Amino acid sequence: MKHLLGVEDLTRADIEELLDLADSFLEVTQRDIAKVPALRGRTVATMFFEDSTRTKLSFETAAKRLSADTLSFSVSTSSVKKGESLKDTAQTVEAMGADAIVVRHSSSGAPHRVAGWVNASVVNAGDGWHGHPTQALLDAFTLRRHRGPSLDGLRVLIAGDVKHSRVARSDVHVLTTLGAQVTVCGPPTLLPGATEGWPVTITHDLDDALCDTDVVYLLRIQRERQDAALFPTLREYTARWGLTDERAARLKPDVLVMHPGPMNRGVEISSAVADSPRSLILEQVSNGVAVRMGVLFKLLAGDAGAGGGSRAAGAGTATGAAGTRDVTGQGASR
Ligand code: NCD
Repeated sequence: MKHLLGVEDLTRADIEELLDLADSFLEVTQRDIAKVPALRGRTVATMFFEDSTRTKLSFETAAKRLSADTLSFSVSTSSVKKGESLKDTAQTVEAMGADAIVVRHSSSGAPHRVAGWVNASVVNAGDGWHGHPTQALLDAFTLRRHRGPSLDGLRVLIAGDVKHSRVARSDVHVLTTLGAQVTVCGPPTLLPGATEGWPVTITHDLDDALCDTDVVYLLRIQRERQDAALFPTLREYTARWGLTDERAARLKPDVLVMHPGPMNRGVEISSAVADSPRSLILEQVSNGVAVRMGVLFKLLAGDAGAGGGSRAAGAGTATGAAGTRDVTGQGASR
């Protein structure tokens, strides 16, 4: 595996392997000194052309916990403001010695383009409406920890702005590949036009859908990805499609609530529900670090100099016996 650009090509076995790796790294993140030398000498660059809190911090934390060096690029403080192209920016970052480049971009397909221009491994950290592979993996990982080991038959309701959501697209693929039964719910204007071929049930009636689910996964209204008014008012949206206190009170006690963040409290989810014991929202964030450690390790610690970095002096020697490295560096980190 050289890149992680989408989830479409991942088989059930691939996904399970990544989740198993994340399991080992979760244990690392819970140690007093949450650091292993697995990627010492490797460099991970984050190249974010869109705003982010958790995904960017999470990748950088994951890289640091694996002892990789990190390079951080944010478009607002870069030469992109002076007109530099995506290709020149990516090749510049690689010339600094990046072995992996984590790309977020508002255009679908941007990470795929970058992968064609550099030798480094490229990880998609969210591209337009297309995909957000590590979010889907961390969601599956979180569910596996609560309802696993198997997700076969688990009923997951994804509610909100599915149309503009890369998270929804990746989650549908990963969760159904792992055997979950996914239903998507939202106003007709916020559901994708073409859902043929999606292995999901579609509904517009949240109250009905909530009677029949094990997990409710809420999505933010992605106003920055919309070019028209797609629902009358926020108040009406919340009344029909928000997980309000009243709706949450009707849920069975063991129904779990998830959200990829950032949340708009009081719109798609009530503040009390977001902070309630059934909410896995902060656990999703914590698990994200372990999952991204697994992904970076898989891409960079394999044999055959995976991850390129050929322009970085010493990359070859830095990999060394990486393929045989102990994933969790037991002993070495204490
Ligand atoms: C999501 C994203 O950026 O796609 N957030 C995230 O990465 N956790 C969801 C969103 O923006 O609403």
